[in-house]
Amino acid sequence: MHKSRRPLIAGNWKMYKGGPTGLALARACVEMAQGLHHVDVVIAPPFTVLAAAAAECDGSRVAIAGQNVHARSEGAFTGEISASMLSDSGCTWVIVGHSERRAHFGETDALVTDKVRAAFDGALTPIVCVGETLEEREAGKTLDVVRRQVEAFANVLKVLADGRPRAAIAYEPVWAIGTGKTAGPREAEEVHAAIRGWLQAHDADLAQGTRILYSGSVKPENADGLLACPNVDGALVGGASLDAGSFGAIARAAEVLAHATSH
Ligand code: PGA
Repeated sequence: MHKSRRPLIAGNWKMYKGGPTGLALARACVEMAQGLHHVDVVIAPPFTVLAAAAAECDGSRVAIAGQNVHARSEGAFTGEISASMLSDSGCTWVIVGHSERRAHFGETDALVTDKVRAAFDGALTPIVCVGETLEEREAGKTLDVVRRQVEAFANVLKVLADGRPRAAIAYEPVWAIGTGKTAGPREAEEVHAAIRGWLQAHDADLAQGTRILYSGSVKPENADGLLACPNVDGALVGGASLDAGSFGAIARAAEVLAHATSH
């Protein structure tokens, strides 16, 4: 974590908590976030409870994200959701190119880039996911793979007039998702620093300001070590975000570190 970047803790609920339990979780997240002043908190519930969760979070410190978006603004695309629909449902963020989308739904680098564009057009801030598989890591290809994924969308990233970038990036080593395995802080920092370096070639403000989140089995027990890395600016949390207690503990770890680094 670096003092120039406000940490971001995002919870990806995946295909869980799509009914009343989701609303209860959103409510618990609002309560949890009340005491947080140095960290941005985002939750990504399933589509079925987006609007209701957004109503629960209205006026609170918790922002809402979609878990996916279609690349087109509207059309005959049965079962799909557009950026403006997400935004009409109360979302200000959207997760794009999650490894499960890439692996199970055929999302390519080109499609991910189109979705980043669609998110911007719909006034949403994308959290764009990148990361290597176990096979790629073992073959020593981690940086090549992640670089290819980042370069695919880096050209469409934007910086606002005040110099703040309009997107976050999540590094999620695929082998660490839902497996209980985490990249150690050193492994995470190596990739995060590389991503920032590649962004630097595009734009200095983009490189300095983009929040790069770590993702993959983040839990209260390992959050401190990961968030203390200079280029880790937050976390995209899956399993542990389904419980407000553990999600809150991760957000508080970020709050404490952010407070400490700001002095
Ligand atoms: P996990 O999921 O924390 O359950 O590993 C992370 C993610 O896929 O966003």
